[in-house]
This record gives sequence, C-alpha cells and structure tokens, in this order.
Amino acid sequence: MVEHQFGGPWTEEKLNRLRKYLPAYTKIFTSNPRAAYFHTLYVDAFAGTGFRQDEAVDREEEGALFDVNVDPEAGAFRQGSAAIALETTPPFAEYVFIERSATYVQSLARLRESFPALAPHITVVSDDANVYLRRWCSNTDWHRNRAVVFLYPYGMQVQWATIAAMAATPGIDLWILFPLGIGVNRLLLRERLPQGPWADRLTALFGTEAWQQAFYRPSEQQNLFGDQPETIRDADFARIAQFWLERLRTVFPHVAPQPLPLRNSRHVPLYLLCFAASNPRKGSTAVRIAQHILSR
Ligand SMILES: C[S@@+](CC[C@H](N)C(=O)[O-])C[C@H]1O[C@@H](n2cnc3c(N)ncnc32)[C@H](O)[C@@H]1O
Repeated sequence: MVEHQFGGPWTEEKLNRLRKYLPAYTKIFTSNPRAAYFHTLYVDAFAGTGFRQDEAVDREEEGALFDVNVDPEAGAFRQGSAAIALETTPPFAEYVFIERSATYVQSLARLRESFPALAPHITVVSDDANVYLRRWCSNTDWHRNRAVVFLYPYGMQVQWATIAAMAATPGIDLWILFPLGIGVNRLLLRERLPQGPWADRLTALFGTEAWQQAFYRPSEQQNLFGDQPETIRDADFARIAQFWLERLRTVFPHVAPQPLPLRNSRHVPLYLLCFAASNPRKGSTAVRIAQHILSR
C-alpha cells in the first residue's frame, strides 16, 4: 500500500462529516422518483491514495504553502476520502478520483480490487485538479448529472476560476477545505501587503484583488523600529473566514453559513470545512442538511 501521511484528529472530524453527508445525498437520489432520473457522481479532486496515516500535522503544515507532498513515516492507516466515498450506501452511479501524483494514482486504481462491485464505476484521472474540474464542468450534461465534489488540497491549490466554474453549473454540491490558518493567514504579513507570487496566490484563490482592502488599512502608527509602514494588516481569522464566505456567495446561490473550523493541537484553525450548493432550487435543502452535519 502506498503511504500517504497527512492530517491529524481534525482530519478525522472532517472525514466524518463527509461520511455522514454522502449517504444522505445518495438516499435522496434513489428514493425520490424525480431525482432518480439523475446520474450521480462523487468527484474527489485532490484524492490522495484512498488512505491516510496520522501524526503528520506539523509536516503537513510545512508542505501546505509550497505544494509539496509530505513524505510518509510510520503511523496507523485510516480511510481517506476516496475509500470513505466508496463505502457510501446506497452507492453513487460513478466515482471520479483526480490526483496529480503518479504514485497515488496507482494506489487509487487499486481501490477497484477492494470494491470489486464498484470497479466499473470508478474513474481515476491523472491530472491537475483545476484543469480537469473546469473541463469537466463544461463538458458534463447537467440535464442528466448531479455531483458531490470534495476538495481537500494541502493548501492554496484551488483556484477561484474552478470554484466559479462549479458554481455556474446547476448540479454541484461542493465540500471544500478552505486553507485558513495553513495558507492564507501565513501569507498575510503584518506591516506590508504581500507582493509578487504571494499576492498572486491570494488573488488566484479569492478571484479578486479586493482582499487587499479587506485585510489591510493605511497605517497611522510607527512600528517598533520607528518606521511608518504604509499599510497594516487588519484581519484576524474571523475576518478572513467572513471574506471567503462573502466570495462564495458571489457565485453560489446557497452557502452553509457556519463552516467548521478544523483546529490543530494549538487550537489554530488550519482549515475551514465549507459547503456550497449550486442548484438554485434544491440547493437550500442541501445546505440545510450540510449545516446540520457541520454543526453537530
Ligand atoms: C490532503 S491530500 C488529499 C487527501 C484526500 N482527499 C483524503 O482525504 O484522503 C491532497 C492531495 O492532493 C494532491 N494534489 C496536490 N495538488 C494537486 C493538483 N493541482 N491536482 C491534483 N492533485 C493535487 C496531492 O498529491 C495529495 O495527494
């Protein structure tokens, strides 16, 4: 089995939420005759290996900003999101696992052996998540398909253009781990607007440069060295989270109002587990169910 170390106790918290939501979703699509018309997909765009090992919190935090995979060390194997999705009862009509790492792709393909009845319905894609998802959104017949998309990147890898493409369909329920403490908070310097690649990364994630005004204000005070910085950071975790939800609401008709902070042992909110639904009519029910699961 390919080893893949990431997460900690908070990861289990998040995966438990997914574990509860998926059967609630597939049940609606099998029990309601109108909904049964739709082909249901589970799409995991940062799919990993299907499994995970604990005890890598700090190392995952190190890797988060810079897009590196965290090397494995010993630890107990647990199910990752892909394996959890494959256990959903009733099952989805189709499972799509997207992964950039060739080694992890091989491991995902072996999930067919563990779930032989579902093997013909599993597609493993070796591609960049953003590129694939955008293409998939525009090539899918949304008169016939409905999907749950799960996005758990290490850090800042999701691009706003991908979020907007999903929101523009009428058929996606999106679970996304927003990299609050693990990514965004670290890039926001105290006495200077982030520049260059850091600024580009924030703009690509939020889909706007408005984060600059949202998170910084002109400085009125001298710093410790007697210099006067031009701008000063004016954003705590709550402000960043609020801005992200505001951004989601600009494109999704329904967004769960209270995302779940996933905190490390030092109580830092590494991620926010967020939910949004793109269907203008049915999305409100999806958000009600998701918010209930998030709030428990
Ligand atoms: C935190 S892990 C995913 C964990 C998995 N979803 C789970 O819960 O079991 C993030 C994964 O995203 C992959 N990845 C990183 N950047 C990617 C990209 N641009 N496109 C596709 N996969 C990517 C990494 O190789 C890694 O396996």
